[in-house]
Amino acid sequence: MLNIALFGPPGAGKGTQSEFLVDQYNLCYISTGDLLRKELKAESKLGKEARDIIASGGLVSDEIIVQILEKTIAEHPHANGFLFDGFPRTRIQAYILEGLMTKLNTSLDCLVNLEVPEAESVRRLLERAKTSGRSDDNESVIRNRLKEYDEKTLPVLDFYQKKGLRMDVDGTQTVEEVREDVSRIAREQYNKRPVSLVVFGYPGSGRGSQAKALAEEFGLEFMATGRMLDEEIAAGTPVGKQVQSLYENGQLVPDEIVIPLIERRLENAKNVRGFIFKGFPRTLVQSYILDGLLKKYGCSASMVIEIEVPVLELMERLDRRSRTDACMPYDNGTEKIVRRLREHEIKTVPVIQKYGELHGVTKIDGTGSFEEVYVRCAAEVRTLFQVGERS
Ligand code: AP5
Ligand code: MG
Repeated sequence: MLNIALFGPPGAGKGTQSEFLVDQYNLCYISTGDLLRKELKAESKLGKEARDIIASGGLVSDEIIVQILEKTIAEHPHANGFLFDGFPRTRIQAYILEGLMTKLNTSLDCLVNLEVPEAESVRRLLERAKTSGRSDDNESVIRNRLKEYDEKTLPVLDFYQKKGLRMDVDGTQTVEEVREDVSRIAREQYNKRPVSLVVFGYPGSGRGSQAKALAEEFGLEFMATGRMLDEEIAAGTPVGKQVQSLYENGQLVPDEIVIPLIERRLENAKNVRGFIFKGFPRTLVQSYILDGLLKKYGCSASMVIEIEVPVLELMERLDRRSRTDACMPYDNGTEKIVRRLREHEIKTVPVIQKYGELHGVTKIDGTGSFEEVYVRCAAEVRTLFQVGERS
């Protein structure tokens, strides 16, 4: 998610700059001013309550603002992030925003402050008044809006300065120059977010080799739980010995063993853009555990991929491998192979369905050569790193 607040006095250009940001990052746009004007036009209860205050240039009550915010956020459950324009406008609203972000399990990335002197604000708004039809675009009301801004809204800057989220932009430049500055800030914030990917597929679908190659190309930590367990076996640790016997019976390793290994790996990961999980989560319970683990790192699953291969081809692939040196201890024989495919069917398919319902799963055709499948996977993953790419 990318969450930005555009800040500045009336006429600073918040609305003007919003358009490209919303488009480029596919954000949900929340302009409390626009939302209030919509309520006004619809002559709703909220609109009626707010009408006189807006017309005089004052600030409407926090109760009204929270109601319209909650309504809009609820209408966009799958948003890539939010762009706030004209909110928060008081220190109290800054706390309200914290609460809303917490509820969505995310946080504000930055507050872009468009700096414009009062005289320029007035000049622009009087110009806009010729065509805007806004009840508050006339000189005396503009002066009152600016007064409200100085008294109630400016202190919000200090709140975000202390949090290290305030980014100043010279709003007196041309629209294009301001856009360049705002765009640079947004891009920096966007690139800072840790990316996390989950790769699913039946045993034999190529998920492991694809995920490993993706990790290398995109600078992600390769989180392959099977491999972590193998390392324990190779090192002959007590955990490794336990795992070995479970493997031989074709059983899943309990969470008490897997989770500490993942935690250690996450903690030790340095200089990575994010994480790519393979072989985890395998059960619904593990999917909740993953959400919790990622939350600790300020992220959630950015993309869930499923590599699809027809069952007969999977059997052929696994059978072929079981007769080579690359044979895995957990699939050296038809019975074990079938057991693993069934485990996936029963326990992991519901996890993929859960992600599908939540955020959507990117399905990749897993037939063909490794390279052919890789090209398909990489093209999807690249979209996570490309600004302006809609997801
Ligand atoms: P709101 O709609 O948010 O108005 P505002 O803050 O007064 O800001 P404006 O929309 O007037 O200016 P803008 O910064 O968007 O500038 P724009 O891009 O249009 O709020 C209205 C009212 O609703 C409030 O007074 C309050 O009553 C209520 N309200 C809203 N949110 C609230 C909240 N959270 N809590 C309580 N009450 C709330 O640009 C202005 C003009 O300048 C345009 O004509 C544009 O073309 C031009 N322009 C833009 N950039 C440039 C540039 N770089 N160079 C030259 N011209 C430019
Ligand atoms: Mg505006």
